[in-house]
Amino acid sequence: MVNTRIIGILSGKGGVGKTTLALNLGAALTDFGKNVLIVDGNLTTPNLGIHAGIPLYPTSMHDVLKGNVDIYDVMHIMYNGLKIVPASINLNDLKGVDPDMLSTSFIDLAGKIDFLLIDGAPGLGSEALSIFKASHEVLGISTPELPALTDLLKSVRLAKDHQKEYVGSVVNMVTKKKYEPNREQIESFLEGVPILELVPHDHHVRHALSKRVPVIYHKPNAKSSLKIKSVAAQLAGKEYKIPWHKKIFNRI
Ligand SMILES: Nc1ncnc2c1ncn2[C@@H]1O[C@H](COP(=O)(O)OP(=O)(O)OP(=O)(O)O)[C@@H](O)[C@H]1O
Ligand SMILES: [Mg+2]
Repeated sequence: MVNTRIIGILSGKGGVGKTTLALNLGAALTDFGKNVLIVDGNLTTPNLGIHAGIPLYPTSMHDVLKGNVDIYDVMHIMYNGLKIVPASINLNDLKGVDPDMLSTSFIDLAGKIDFLLIDGAPGLGSEALSIFKASHEVLGISTPELPALTDLLKSVRLAKDHQKEYVGSVVNMVTKKKYEPNREQIESFLEGVPILELVPHDHHVRHALSKRVPVIYHKPNAKSSLKIKSVAAQLAGKEYKIPWHKKIFNRI
C-alpha cells in the first residue's frame, strides 16, 4: 500500500495498554499533521470506542469485515481530525465475521491515510494473527514484568516470521522499582529489538479514561503524555524533545 503505514499494536498479553497507546499515538500523530486512522482490531473484546468516548454506533468494523458497509461509512472523526473505526461491543455482531478480511478492508485507503494504526487483540490467536498479516509494521507493548515480556517476545518472533518490520517496543506502566528490569535488560530479553520509550505508571491515564479522552489532551504535560508524544515523534520522524522545564516540573 503506497504511502500508508499500517502499524499493528500488539502485545500478546492483555491489559498492558494497547488501546491506550493506540488512541494517544493516533491523537499525537494527528497533532503532528499526519492523517491518521485507528481501527479496532480487537473483535471479540473491543473497547477503542469506549476509550475514545464514541457514543453508541449502529455500524462498526464488524460490518466492514462482513462486507456490509464501506470502511468510510463507519469512520468517526474525532478531536482535531483523528479518524476512528470502532468495533461492535455487541456479541451477536461477531457472527459471520472473518478477521482475515482485515487487509482487504484497507485496500480503498491506500495512499489516503498516512498512518493506519490497528488496536491489537490480546493473545496470539486468529484475531491477532490477522492483524500481523494486515500490518506492514508491528509496534509491541508490554509492562515490565516477565509474563508480559514473554508474550511480547513471541510477538517479536511472529513479526519476523511474517516478515513484518518490528518498529520497536513501548514498555508501559513502568514504576522503576528495584525489582523491575531496566531498559537494557528488557532489550536483551527481547532479542535486541529497541525500546522506543518507557511510559510510567501514571494515575492520569485512568482519570483520562474515566473522562473518555486521550491522556495527552487530559493532561498534556503528564509524564505519560510526554512519553507517548515522544513515541509518536519517533514514528513520524519528527524532532521532539521533552522541554527541560516540564521534566523539572514533573519531578516536583
Ligand atoms: N501508563 C499507564 N499508567 C496507568 N494506567 C494505565 C497506563 N496505561 C494503561 N493504563 C490502564 O490500564 C488498563 C488497560 O489498558 P488498555 O485497555 O489500554 O490495555 P489493552 O492492552 O488495550 O487491554 P486489552 O488487551 O484488554 O485490549 C486501563 O485501565 C488503562 O487506563
Ligand atoms: Mg485494548
